[in-house]
Amino acid sequence: MNRYALLVRPSANRVYDSDAPRLAAAELALFGDAVLGGRIGDIESVELGGVPYLTFDCDRLDEQDLAVLSHLSAVFALYELEDGRLTPTAITSPDRLPDDVITIPKYRGKTNEQFTRLLLNVTLLSSAFAPELLERRFRVLDPLCGRGTTLNQAIVLGHDASGIDLDERDVDAYAAFIRRWMKDHRIKHRAEFAPVRRNHRTVGKRLQVSFAATKEEFRAGDLQQLDVVAADTVDALEFHRPGSFDVIVTDAPYGVHHGSRTVTKGLRRDPMDLLREAVPVWAQLLRAGGALGMAWNTKVAGRDEAADVIAAAGLEVLDDDAHRAFAHRVDASIHRDVLVARRT
Ligand SMILES: C[S@@+](CC[C@H](N)C(=O)[O-])C[C@H]1O[C@@H](n2cnc3c(N)ncnc32)[C@H](O)[C@@H]1O
Repeated sequence: MNRYALLVRPSANRVYDSDAPRLAAAELALFGDAVLGGRIGDIESVELGGVPYLTFDCDRLDEQDLAVLSHLSAVFALYELEDGRLTPTAITSPDRLPDDVITIPKYRGKTNEQFTRLLLNVTLLSSAFAPELLERRFRVLDPLCGRGTTLNQAIVLGHDASGIDLDERDVDAYAAFIRRWMKDHRIKHRAEFAPVRRNHRTVGKRLQVSFAATKEEFRAGDLQQLDVVAADTVDALEFHRPGSFDVIVTDAPYGVHHGSRTVTKGLRRDPMDLLREAVPVWAQLLRAGGALGMAWNTKVAGRDEAADVIAAAGLEVLDDDAHRAFAHRVDASIHRDVLVARRT
């Protein structure tokens, strides 16, 4: 048995403050159970030389195991720990695109980038498709996508991403940003941004981008798809076929002012009323075995109430200890928790 030490990304500590090592440990435990055959044990949060690490037991990690662990949202570096000495392992980033697509956009109401990757990871690991983590291009939907943090995390990892947001200004801002970014980074792409009309009336505005991380992939037609609609999420079935997504990952409206921006902007309902209407629609969009990962503000509704809304839509809520470990404080008015559910 070997002991490993995972250096927690410094930004994780800024984001979650004292929660960072605990959340990283919970994510690592889920990776261990879902895709590493339960081989990870005795996860401990420690300081070595005044720097926070997670240490854990595992038999020898091979190249494939390291590729899996490189997905962890908080991993900065990974060492083998022996007699108090750290030996680096060859961990490489799973990112297929430059990650500044995630970090450049700055706006009030943005969901923290690292938390968004954690939520995407936890949701993928909870789907029936977790064993395909390293091979598959997943279809990811954020049905309350704002200016696209989930979409950007998904495309960086090589997945297809779709988003819906009621606020047309968010979709406009995202469309402008992503097209500029692709040009600046010479990412080969085709983009269209146009109104969607049904029966002579405009029902939304839609951005559709086909692109590839490399010129060779673009030439071969091996394209990733990015699709964002300005519309009400309860109308999602107007834009997407039932059963067409592997995972749905979203950060629900907080129901409070966040910074100086009203996060409830454009909301016709209170956040729980919105979820009661929207989750049954989202459930239909998931394919069998797919998973929903939702973050919400527990000051708006408690865990049981939010879980009931998801269960009432026919999804199986995963409520074991491993999935109950992600609650954390965001600020004085937002305490965020995560619920994950599967379509059976
Ligand atoms: C917490 S924010 C998500 C922020 C996003 N993750 C980001 O980083 O930009 C919730 C989003 O839900 C959107 N929203 C609220 N009601 C909606 C509805 N009925 N349909 C679609 N989007 C809605 C809001 O416009 C807001 O952008």
